[in-house]
Amino acid sequence: VTVYVPGDAAALALGADEVAAAIATAAAQRGLKLRIVRNGSRGLFWLEPLVEVATAQGRIAYGPVTAADVPGLFAADFTAGGKHRLRLGDIAAVPYLARQQRVTMHRVGVIDPLSLSDYRAHGGGKGLEIARSLAPAEIVRMVTDSGLRGRGGAAFPTGIKWKTVLDTASAQKYIVCNADEGDSGTFADRMLMEGDPFCLIEGMAIAGLAVGADKGYIYVRSEYPHAIAALNAALDNAGGWLGDFRIEVRKGAGAYVCGEETALLESIEGKRGIVRSKPPLPAISGLFGRPTVINNVITLASVPDILAQGAAYYRDFGVGRSRGTLPFQLAGNVKYGGLIEVPFGCTLRELLYDYGGGSRSGRPLRAVQVGGPLGAYLPESQFDTVLDYEAFAAVGAVLGHGGIVAFDDTVDMARQARYAMKFCAIESCGKCTPCRIGSTRGVEVIDRIRAGATEQIPLLRDLCDTMTAGSLCAMGGMTPYPVLSALNHFPEDFQ
Ligand code: NAI
Ligand code: SF4
Repeated sequence: VTVYVPGDAAALALGADEVAAAIATAAAQRGLKLRIVRNGSRGLFWLEPLVEVATAQGRIAYGPVTAADVPGLFAADFTAGGKHRLRLGDIAAVPYLARQQRVTMHRVGVIDPLSLSDYRAHGGGKGLEIARSLAPAEIVRMVTDSGLRGRGGAAFPTGIKWKTVLDTASAQKYIVCNADEGDSGTFADRMLMEGDPFCLIEGMAIAGLAVGADKGYIYVRSEYPHAIAALNAALDNAGGWLGDFRIEVRKGAGAYVCGEETALLESIEGKRGIVRSKPPLPAISGLFGRPTVINNVITLASVPDILAQGAAYYRDFGVGRSRGTLPFQLAGNVKYGGLIEVPFGCTLRELLYDYGGGSRSGRPLRAVQVGGPLGAYLPESQFDTVLDYEAFAAVGAVLGHGGIVAFDDTVDMARQARYAMKFCAIESCGKCTPCRIGSTRGVEVIDRIRAGATEQIPLLRDLCDTMTAGSLCAMGGMTPYPVLSALNHFPEDFQ
């Protein structure tokens, strides 16, 4: 019998290790032979630790399980899928999961993340095989045709980025994976790295073939020790699968700005994480001054399937210029937080209510921040906005990396605006004035407004203008999104 107990960080935080140990002990006491696989998480966090048993009727799930529940589960014969109050039935039929379209994340929570043979048994490796039979320009063409855009947040067409690197002559090129997932409320990169690391590794190897690079770096934030361990273990288990392509995992040191691509490159080079002026683009002169593909985890992890299943397969999901799927991350004040991978085109309201079940507090949802700490707050009147890059831009918001954080009607939006400025002041790399000084002045102005000096609201707007237009990177340039959206949609909180 095979029993799955997630080894994902979110499940571990909820006691998955204790559950796995209790299951092993109870099985040994009963003389039962069990294979315990530490899979990734399905991303249904309110059910973690979610234990699954492989049966002829599918993977029968139980959750949320605590170590104290384990004797009862054995008494109920759970290893044969027996009845128990925590029994959820076939995990694939649980509506939260069944309604999703898992494309990039389809193996996460399913396979043993560290087993290359399990990965291959679930369709892994085909993309790399196909890439090996194609000319570099043909690989780039497939990625371009798929419509894939950068999933880190900026949504730049991946194929065009790769073509720039392919067309730039150099004896040495690099593939860099940005795994510095710093946005509040986001965890898709982490789940992919912990639950299906070979998928990212395969995507990087394909990128290497596409542009002529034989070396890759994965820059992972230090707050993700489990992801770092999973990647290193997977690389150890990869054997000769990658051919000449080598990958090194680099650990960040805790700076949000190192998720900005040029600061990240500086950090890999061993320097302080300070943003570089662009141009030159990293695609022309990136890591160690060489042409470099730098992509987010989910972008690279989307590539193996595009190669294996064809560009049209991927492009057929989505709406408008937002093709494919996005693993949305639902967090904050919702009943059912978790990972929701769906094609672009559903609405924010569907995610918040049909998946999220509304607020956890039971109070009305008032504001939702989409796209991380630099994303805009959307009021209830915008909940029907379609989840695609252009529709969000049209309402002055961003989809970013797909992080969604919900707040109920107890939220103080002036306080949230202050938080955005404060965050920028703390995380600013200090290179340019509008961000370095503007964010500190921004905190002070908001403090005065909150103390009653509402005549300073135009000053705050002016400051936001300066930061938007004059900052060197998205850190200072996007901080006005949360501030101005709070001011525009929730003016009463500033009075
Ligand atoms: P950007 O729009 O300047 O660049 C996007 C990407 O396209 C970069 O890799 C850039 O080098 C590349 N690029 C642009 N023109 C190109 C060309 N002609 N040829 C080849 N490559 C080209 O945006 P940036 O500053 O890289 O990212 C900002 C975004 O980051 C924001 O929209 C925000 O949503 C997101 N973000 C994500 C976070 C996360 O944790 N995932 C954290 C903070 C921000
Ligand atoms: Fe650095 Fe902020 Fe300027 Fe970006 S906007 S370069 S983080 S000072």
